[in-house]
Amino acid sequence: YNRQRLLVVANRLPVSAVRRGEDSWSLEISAGGLVSALLGVKEFDARWIGWAGVNVPDEVGQKSLTKTLAEKRCIPVFLDEEIVHQYYNGYCNNILWPLFHYLGLPQEDRLATTRSFQSQFAAYKKANLMFADVVNEHYEEGDVVWCHDYHLMFLPKCLKEYNSKMKVGWFLHTPFPSSEIHRTLPSRSELLRSVLAADLVMLGVDRLDIIKGIPQKILAFEKFLEENASWRDKVVLLQIAVPTRTDVPEYQKLTSQVHEIVGRINGRFGTLTAAPIHHLDRSLDFYALCALYAVTDVALVTSLRDGMNLVSYEFVACQEAKKGVLILSEFAGAAQSLGAGAILVNPWNITEVAASIGQALNMSSEEREKRHRHNFHHVKTHTSQEWAETFVSELNDTVIEAQLRI
Ligand code: UDP
Ligand code: G6P
Repeated sequence: YNRQRLLVVANRLPVSAVRRGEDSWSLEISAGGLVSALLGVKEFDARWIGWAGVNVPDEVGQKSLTKTLAEKRCIPVFLDEEIVHQYYNGYCNNILWPLFHYLGLPQEDRLATTRSFQSQFAAYKKANLMFADVVNEHYEEGDVVWCHDYHLMFLPKCLKEYNSKMKVGWFLHTPFPSSEIHRTLPSRSELLRSVLAADLVMLGVDRLDIIKGIPQKILAFEKFLEENASWRDKVVLLQIAVPTRTDVPEYQKLTSQVHEIVGRINGRFGTLTAAPIHHLDRSLDFYALCALYAVTDVALVTSLRDGMNLVSYEFVACQEAKKGVLILSEFAGAAQSLGAGAILVNPWNITEVAASIGQALNMSSEEREKRHRHNFHHVKTHTSQEWAETFVSELNDTVIEAQLRI
């Protein structure tokens, strides 16, 4: 039967390219919640349009990469270094991302930020137009075009200008800031208006990232060790800190800050044979990650803000045997759905997080079972396939309703 054709447009393709020679490429799976969520979507005839994470200035390279990506049903948008710097590192990750997670505009140099803002915003619009051109080129009548995330807020408007009949949806994977925060953004109304050009906008659902509260987590673990001497050589915090957005200064600062705290705590509580914190600055493939989820006793998610947080879902899904405990930040979107089974904490309150670590480690098996059952049921019944189907069918309905109104 004819499956609905879907063009998924996101800044990041599910695979990132690494150049091996003039016309040879290898592909690595990209990390992050957006890619994970969409890889779970199978029941559509889907193509991806996005950036392969690499600068390809020459024609030979662009042609060969386009061919390599086509095997994965991916279509590249080529962004040059300057655009990546201004649009991706600058406007997207130095301005929009912290703002949408309630961290405000970058603190250290407000004036410089204000000055560079105009050129970054111009680059943002230009990049969105480049995405629109590629979408337009590959669009066929009847396709659903599903744009994703804060990188592409201008895209719906550009696409509608090209072709007002195109079915365009937009989905935000981060929290949407309250109006008080959103107001501080100089380009706020232009951005919002352009998103509203989409037929459907389903808001609020929602790596070493500034939003993940990693320093807060490690400090809470230190406090726990301080107060619970008997646990000292029995418990290990394994922190996987996937390097991310490493060209953005705020992320570089966070990396050295985390390394410093980890070193201090390991120095303080380590012994000749054991270190309390195993910190890995790397990503793992999904199977290794699932194996780790399965053997973990307590998962600690301390996001200061998070759209949804798929890690907490994946942990629950892998815990059928162990029935481990999830400690979850009340500021992660997932707290709405997994709150009843998890121990909810305020990540800024280190005393509370430290106490929850103790509570989780000492929890009776009956209580763990009860909490796990609740969360497992939710995770099993709320799949990414279902999310995508709901979005696309609502988008189809919206377009039909709009036609009836004319
Ligand atoms: N992930 C991965 N390899 C790693 C670490 C994480 O593939 O080494 C995946 C993880 O399985 C999850 C996603 O990255 O699906 C992170 O999603 P989440 O919503 O928790 O946070 P985001 O990175 O989108 O802010
Ligand atoms: C979050 C964002 C995604 C992004 C991912 C990884 O999940 O919502 O849009 O792809 O982080 O970040 P990156 O900058 O490496 O694409």
